Amino acid sequence: MTSHMSNTDTLNPEGNSMRDAWSIADDVTYLNHGSFGPSPCVVEQARQAWTDQLERQPMNFFLRQMEEALTEARESLATFVGADADDLIFVDNATYGMNIVAASVELKAGDEVLVTDHEYGAVMRIWRRVCKQTGAQLVVRKLPQPFVSANETAADFLEGVTDKTKLIVVSHVTSPTALTLPVKQICHGARQRGVQVCVDGPHAIAMTPLNIRQLNCDYYVASCHKWLSAPFGTGFLYVAGRRQATVKPPILSWGGSISGNAPNWKDEFNWVGTRDPAGFLAVPAAIKFLERTGIDQFRESTHQLAEYARLQIDEAFGMGDIPAPDSIDWYSSMIALPIPTGNEEQPREGHRDPLQDSLWEQFRIEVPIVHWQRRRFVRVSCHLYNCRADVDRLTDALRTLIR
Ligand SMILES: Cc1ncc(COP(=O)(O)O)c(C=O)c1O
Repeated sequence: MTSHMSNTDTLNPEGNSMRDAWSIADDVTYLNHGSFGPSPCVVEQARQAWTDQLERQPMNFFLRQMEEALTEARESLATFVGADADDLIFVDNATYGMNIVAASVELKAGDEVLVTDHEYGAVMRIWRRVCKQTGAQLVVRKLPQPFVSANETAADFLEGVTDKTKLIVVSHVTSPTALTLPVKQICHGARQRGVQVCVDGPHAIAMTPLNIRQLNCDYYVASCHKWLSAPFGTGFLYVAGRRQATVKPPILSWGGSISGNAPNWKDEFNWVGTRDPAGFLAVPAAIKFLERTGIDQFRESTHQLAEYARLQIDEAFGMGDIPAPDSIDWYSSMIALPIPTGNEEQPREGHRDPLQDSLWEQFRIEVPIVHWQRRRFVRVSCHLYNCRADVDRLTDALRTLIR
C-alpha cells in the first residue's frame, strides 16, 4: 500500500511494486488506464468512507455537511488544475460536461463550430446533433502532419476560423492518436479572433501540467477517473466567469443551496436530485496520492514507459509514421502506435476490433485497438502500476496475432 511506496519505485519502469497500491486483478495486463483508470486502494477507501458517513445519518450529511465538503473537494481540484474553485462544478464525466456546453452555447443557422480531425467520436456526435438542430455547421479541419512545432500546428488550425466561427472544440490530449495538442496557442489565437473555446481535456488531468487560468478558455471539460485515478463517475466542468450567466443545467431540480447558502451559478449543478457524492468527495484523495508519489516522477516514469512501448512496437512492425513526434511535448503517458491493418474489414464505428478481443481472450491483455483515418493503432496507456514486462507481453502477443 502507499506506506510502502517510495519515489524510487515509481522511477523504476522494470519493477511493478506500485501495483500493490491498486486492487487490479493479478491475471490481467492492464494497459488501458486512458479509457478506464482504476483508483488506488486509498482512493477507493476514501470514497467508501464518505458513503459510510452518508449512510449513518443522511439528513445530517445532505443538509449540513455535503455542500461544505464539496466546496473543499472543489478547492483541492481547482488548485490542482490552476482554476478558481468558484468556476468549477463536479459532473459525472467529460461527456456530461460537454453536453452542458453544447446546451449552453447559443448557435444559429450559418454559425460554425470548428474542430480538429482528432476529436473523440462521442464528442463529434454531440456537436453534429447540436449543429443539425440549430442549422450551424460543424467544420472539421485536418491538422497538418507530420507535426513540426506547436506554434505552426496551432497557426494552421486557426486558419480554419472564419467570421462565422462561434466556437472551437479541441482535445487537450487526443483520444485516437494520444497527442498533446497546443491548446495554449489555440486558446490565445481564438481569443484574438473573438471565438469561444471549449477544451476537451479528460486525458490531460494529471498527465500534463495544466493551468486553466492561463489557458483562459471559455469551457474546460474533464474526467477525473482517467489519469488522476479518482473514482469512476467523477469529472468537472470549468466555466469562465464571462459565461456563467448563460450556462444551462441539463437536469432541473430545486436550483438552490440545500444548506441555505447564498445563490450561486453552481447551485443548479450541485443538487441534481438525490445522489451519493462520495466519488467527488474522494477526488482530493486521488490528488494526494499522486502528490505523495511525486507528480513529476509520475509524469517522467510513465512517459519513459510509453517511450519504451514506442521503441518495442515500432521495432516489431516497423510501420514508422507514428502520429506523435518523439517528445514529451507531444505525448506523455499514453501513445498510439501504428500496427498493420491486416486483411480484415475495418470494424464499424463504435465496434471493437477483433484483435482487441483476441488480446484479452488469449493473453489477458486489456489495450484498445483504435481505427483512425484508415489506419490501425494500438493505444498503450502507462500508469504507475505498469512496467516494461507489460509492454513486452503486449509486443509478443501482437507479434503472434498479427502475421
Ligand atoms: C478526448 C476525449 N473526450 C471525451 C471522452 C469521454 O470521457 P468520459 O467517458 O469519461 O466521459 C474521452 C474518453 O476517452 C476522450 O478521450
